[in-house]
Amino acid sequence: MEKDIYILAIESSCDETAAAVVKNGREVLSNIISSQIALHTLYGGVVPEIASRKHIEKINQVIEEALKESGRTLKEIDAIAVTYGPGLVGPLLVGVSAAKAISFATGIPLVGVHHIEGHISANYIENKELEPPFICLVVSGGHSHLVVVKDYGEYEIIGKTRDDAAGEAFDKVARAIGLGYPGGPKIDKLVAEKGNPEAIHFPRAKVEDNAYDFSFSGLKSAVLNYLNGCQMKGEEVNVADVAASFQQAVVDVLVEHAMHAVKQYRFDKFAIAGGVASNSALRKAFEERCQKENIAFYHPSPILCTDNAAMIGAAGYYEFRKGMVSDLSLNAVPNLRLGER
Ligand code: KG4
Ligand code: ZN
Repeated sequence: MEKDIYILAIESSCDETAAAVVKNGREVLSNIISSQIALHTLYGGVVPEIASRKHIEKINQVIEEALKESGRTLKEIDAIAVTYGPGLVGPLLVGVSAAKAISFATGIPLVGVHHIEGHISANYIENKELEPPFICLVVSGGHSHLVVVKDYGEYEIIGKTRDDAAGEAFDKVARAIGLGYPGGPKIDKLVAEKGNPEAIHFPRAKVEDNAYDFSFSGLKSAVLNYLNGCQMKGEEVNVADVAASFQQAVVDVLVEHAMHAVKQYRFDKFAIAGGVASNSALRKAFEERCQKENIAFYHPSPILCTDNAAMIGAAGYYEFRKGMVSDLSLNAVPNLRLGER
């Protein structure tokens, strides 16, 4: 029998300070997340400088808690996986520095992980049978990528957003209709309670030269124009209807583009990942469509969709097994591309 591998994982690319211990890439022994959302809500979005400072305050405590809850000591850890990009440079540096310090002091190997690879790998945790190849739609606050997962650690991006990310569109529209930050979960909850998705027709943009690319800025402008129009005419805005119609437009575009790719590439497995992947309407739409087309549909639980370190531990495990260890020159790379080193 092969020796068990324990990974201590660290994630601090945006506004969550997170650490986890993951066994053999798929079993989460601890998953500690210290969220800064309440702090940034005051400003309507993440303030990078404030985020960096909060990460520094929290990082050691979060790592200690993750080790304690896992019942493991550093002596039993085989590798330290850390997100080194993409993300905000200050926040990334805090996690990378903490990981390097522990690695230097203990001699435990260091593994640099791409944040998006982490989001995709979140699917391995609760779906033990899932193995590449498959197609994954990654939709978060900073990214909307359609990715062919060829093998562990081997990716081909076949579609991406030309402007706003899906989560960014949710956040901007939520702000415009007075729901506040973070917009995605607030719109999701409001629409689940009330709101007619067919009340207003908002555009579903197609990008001319790539059927898999996305564009959400036109949709965002259409919502803002609609709100302005109502204001000028003195008409009352039905916030729930606007939220529902906007959400439906995003869901329709994501489902159409992703399912088109799954069919063209002839895959029978499809997964979603990233913060927006916890959207209930999006999950339902994919569930129905995949069932109809006989495609196995995978998605992480909401806690593993938003930023967390367990997903970095899952991705780090497969990188470590391939021998992809980093040395102490590992640095934060804010615009790191998937598949790049
Ligand atoms: O993956 P994530 O935690 O951070 C990034 O890497 O960006 O994603 C955060 C994004 C935010 O834009 C948030 O509004 C969105 O995911 N989000 C949602 C939902 N939960 C989070 N969007 C739609 N519906 C949700 N339920
Ligand atoms: Zn993320």
